[in-house]
Amino acid sequence: MSGHTVTFDGREIPALPGQTVAAALWSAGITAWRTTRWGGEPRGVFCGIGVCFDCLVEINGRANQRACLVPAAPGDVIRSGDEDVA
Ligand code: FES
Repeated sequence: MSGHTVTFDGREIPALPGQTVAAALWSAGITAWRTTRWGGEPRGVFCGIGVCFDCLVEINGRANQRACLVPAAPGDVIRSGDEDVA
C-alpha cells in the first residue's frame, strides 16, 4: 500500500491512505503531542474513539481537531501547539 506524507511540527512523517492523524503519529513514534493546562502532563490518544478530546491537534490551521478521528490527508500540516512535547 503506497502512502503519502504529512508534516507534524515541521517534521515530515509518513501516512497511509485511511490512516488517522493519531495513527500516523503513533507509527512515527510520537505518542504525546500536547500537555495538560495544569501540571503540564503529556497527552496523546486515550480513548481513540473521539470521546475524551485528549488528542487535540491543529490541522491545516484548524485548531482543536481530534487526531483519532481525522484521516491524515496528503500534505496536511499538523501542529501540536506545544512543540516542546513532540
Ligand atoms: S483519543 Fe479520545 S478523542 Fe481522540
